[in-house]
Amino acid sequence: MRTLLRAWIPLLAGLGLIAWVATVAVNEARDVALRARVVAAGSQQALVGHLGTGDRRRLSALLEDLARDGRIAAVAVCSPALVTVANTKGFPDAYSCEALRSRAAPDGVQSELDFADETPDGRVHVSMQPIHDEDEMRGSLVLVHDLGFVSRRELAMRHFTLAAFGFAALLASVLTVVVRRAWWRSWTEELRRILSLAPGLWPDGRARRSRNAFQPLLKDVRRLVDELATERGANVAPWSAQRLRHVLQEHLHGDGVVILANREPYMHEHGPDGAVRVVHPASGLVTALEPVMRACSGTWIAHGSGSADRAMVDRRDRVRVPPGEESYAIRRVWLTPEEERGYYYGFSNEGLWPLCHAAHTRPEFRASDWVQYELVNRRFADAVCEEVAGPDPVILVQDYHFALAPRMIREHLPRATIITFWHIPWPNAERFGICPWERDLLDGLLGSSIVGFHTQQHCNNFIESVDRYLESRIDRERQSVFQGGRECLVRSYPISIDWPNRWAQAAPPAAECRASVLAELGCPADTYLGVGVDRLDYTKGIEERLLAVERTLERFPHLRGRFVFAQLAAPSRTLLDNYRALNERLEALASRINERFGSGSYRPVVLIRAHQEPPTVFRFLRAADLCYVSSLHDGMNLVAKEFVAAREDERGVLVLSRFTGAARELTGALIVNPYDLEQASAAIATALAMDPREQAERMRAMRQLVAEFNVYRWAGRMLVDAGRIRQQGRLSARLTMGLRPIEGARH
Ligand code: F6P
Repeated sequence: MRTLLRAWIPLLAGLGLIAWVATVAVNEARDVALRARVVAAGSQQALVGHLGTGDRRRLSALLEDLARDGRIAAVAVCSPALVTVANTKGFPDAYSCEALRSRAAPDGVQSELDFADETPDGRVHVSMQPIHDEDEMRGSLVLVHDLGFVSRRELAMRHFTLAAFGFAALLASVLTVVVRRAWWRSWTEELRRILSLAPGLWPDGRARRSRNAFQPLLKDVRRLVDELATERGANVAPWSAQRLRHVLQEHLHGDGVVILANREPYMHEHGPDGAVRVVHPASGLVTALEPVMRACSGTWIAHGSGSADRAMVDRRDRVRVPPGEESYAIRRVWLTPEEERGYYYGFSNEGLWPLCHAAHTRPEFRASDWVQYELVNRRFADAVCEEVAGPDPVILVQDYHFALAPRMIREHLPRATIITFWHIPWPNAERFGICPWERDLLDGLLGSSIVGFHTQQHCNNFIESVDRYLESRIDRERQSVFQGGRECLVRSYPISIDWPNRWAQAAPPAAECRASVLAELGCPADTYLGVGVDRLDYTKGIEERLLAVERTLERFPHLRGRFVFAQLAAPSRTLLDNYRALNERLEALASRINERFGSGSYRPVVLIRAHQEPPTVFRFLRAADLCYVSSLHDGMNLVAKEFVAAREDERGVLVLSRFTGAARELTGALIVNPYDLEQASAAIATALAMDPREQAERMRAMRQLVAEFNVYRWAGRMLVDAGRIRQQGRLSARLTMGLRPIEGARH
């Protein structure tokens, strides 16, 4: 616009000048009278002199001189009585002194005359000016001007003005077009820049750069829309096995998933009678993933660790489960004692486990364990590659046993969608650096498409560790890590249990459970019953729990003889000194408390150190007045959620360590610091005294939460993300392969 103005200002000024010149030319006709006066005045003296001497020859010569001006056609001198004294040759009779008498003043007094007239030869202007000698009038000078020159000049000026206007109009048009084009281009480029937000519309580099500037915003909007679509979209039903199957169908086209986890969901064990029995391992991972696999089908690859496992598999080391349903397969991988010692007991459980849990147990890192860890990861990665159906399968890698496997799988299946879920906490970067193979672990995990944790805090710790120990580019906005041109997303997916919970549904009513459990424990019906259910692991805070029970009995004497705490402790990792030592300490502690506060048949602490199958666990949970989950550090803790699932009678109080991931969700619990025995004992006493209505209120709130945020949602969100990543992979593969159909792709 400014350019346009800059061009138009001189143009308008030029046109103004032309108009002024034209105006001046037109006014000259009106100024002829003035010119006549000027000529008369200039020749006054000579005229008076020649009239005084009567020298007609000189007078005529003077008149001829005056007439030399091209614009003066004729000149005459008249006597005061308007008689011609002298005139130039060819002076027109119509304007002779005598002829002008009739136009002079009627009183006979000669005066000035000025008029224009049309003649056959053109327009003329006639002017009669008096000739004075002092005050005496000596005659008049008549000047006949030819106005033809004015007409000619007017015509020429008209032509010039017309030409100038034509030129100006042409110039203006050209300028307008040029300026408009320039302006239009910059405007449309702006529009293009805005429109370039629509992907693929303007596929030039410049547009892409503009698009990038908006990407964080777009990304947020897209993510929000996706989440809304996932949560509330086509499927508004609560998360369930059925909805998960629907997600699988919609996002993964029904392809079965492959799970890699150290622990198998079903172990086959030889019983004392030699018969084979099925055991459900005590494992949060199994609790969560088994219902997911029932819903999704596919293959679960795990260490075959049951004593009868080999006897139950086919030639490809596979067995279909669950017994009686056979909806998915377990692929068992066999480990030598040396491999199991180095990979499972050594690096995984004496190294990584204490490294990731802030439970004051020193991690042990041995090079020989690391060798086995690498080797076994390779063996499991190979098993995964054998089990997958196509070039871009969806693989769910589970837990700290397999930090290296994602990268190893990726080497063979570059287009696989690998989601690795880390079931335990991720320590801060400084602590993680204790591990001598910290880079290898991070690099292995970054072979995944997504690395998942229970909480955002653990995601942040992971990203900080990558930042500190690896060469990579971190996009904190997207929460992802770029390495070697590949992106690995880091996401939180809080794990949960199935809902409706199949074990809770199968358990007897609360009163029945209570009666049977109290009978088993040899307790009277009015006993206050507390329950703990864990693997026998130092991270679970079982010692602190029993100490809190002891402190409760110290502080609240009315509970002595009435309060019993039953601890179900499944032996775990019993080859390790730490675990054996814990077992011994717990036994000693329970004995001490029972000695201090027991009397007759009353024993305040019942320590049941044996594996329990889920029906027994749920019977205890349903019978209890309180459940105390006192982990010193726990990624989530699913026992807390199982207690909530077990209490459809809306009774019972959950006392929960604030160091569990579950404490962020189960706000209806009494949240405690398990190290603080005063607080923990007060919470136990409060729970036992809690009004049933308050119990129901708290329990109802927690049940609602677990019902909605159940394990199908956990798995569903991961599978939706997996499906999206796989779809993107297929699209970009199609583009790079020139739109050739991709093997294994159904769309
Ligand atoms: O808590 C992490 C975890 O892997 C759980 O998923 C599981 O309950 C447990 O540890 C595994 O224990 P185990 O060594 O018996 O497999």
